[in-house]
Amino acid sequence: MQVITIDGPAGAGKSTLSRRLAAELGWTYLDTGAMYRAVGWAARRRGVDPADPAALEELCRGLRLELEGGRVLADGVDVTGEIRTPEVDALASAVSRNPEVRRRLSRLQRELGARGRVVAEGRDMGTVVFPDAAVKFFVTASVAERAARRRRQLLEKGRDVPEAELRRQIRDRDAADASRRVSPLRPAADAVIIDTTGQDLEASLAALLDVVRERL
Ligand code: C5P
Repeated sequence: MQVITIDGPAGAGKSTLSRRLAAELGWTYLDTGAMYRAVGWAARRRGVDPADPAALEELCRGLRLELEGGRVLADGVDVTGEIRTPEVDALASAVSRNPEVRRRLSRLQRELGARGRVVAEGRDMGTVVFPDAAVKFFVTASVAERAARRRRQLLEKGRDVPEAELRRQIRDRDAADASRRVSPLRPAADAVIIDTTGQDLEASLAALLDVVRERL
């Protein structure tokens, strides 16, 4: 099993970097945030309160998740676009606190990782899901930079959200992800830390590729 893990907080540039790294290596990209988002999306659609463990666990048990060629399907419905909204950001973070949801999604992630040559992106890839990964990264950036990037992304989709509001959302989500009891967000002891503040994508990608080529 060959796995590279990329963990880190929201908006640090993890997704783009993971996708590009996988493409450069010819490996498969595994977007585990999309799985938590799909569960959050399904909870909203079925009127399940993420804070109600029994209802959430039942929902999760019955939910069929598929990740294919960059698309995310929940019970056969393509939710790829719909899971990228600020509402689903918050729902994903809320459902990710549930240990049973984490257990189920982690199992699915290991099954997909066992196929080998996978770049797995998330919050607990190097710490919990793939502790024996060949190379581990923790990608981070300042809150101000992450909010500015998020604002640009949302503007491209026609949503004008004030930067101060985005900074607040990012801080809240970081705090929730880092302080939860199960699998809190933190770098693995053997992770290489990549700080993308003030660094463009190509420079960050080159830094990742240097480490990968040295270690693999
Ligand atoms: O990476 P992304 O922003 O898509 O993740 C959405 C949410 O899913 C995160 O805020 C986090 O709460 C949760 N998540 C997680 N563990 C992962 C991936 C995502 O708890 N491996």
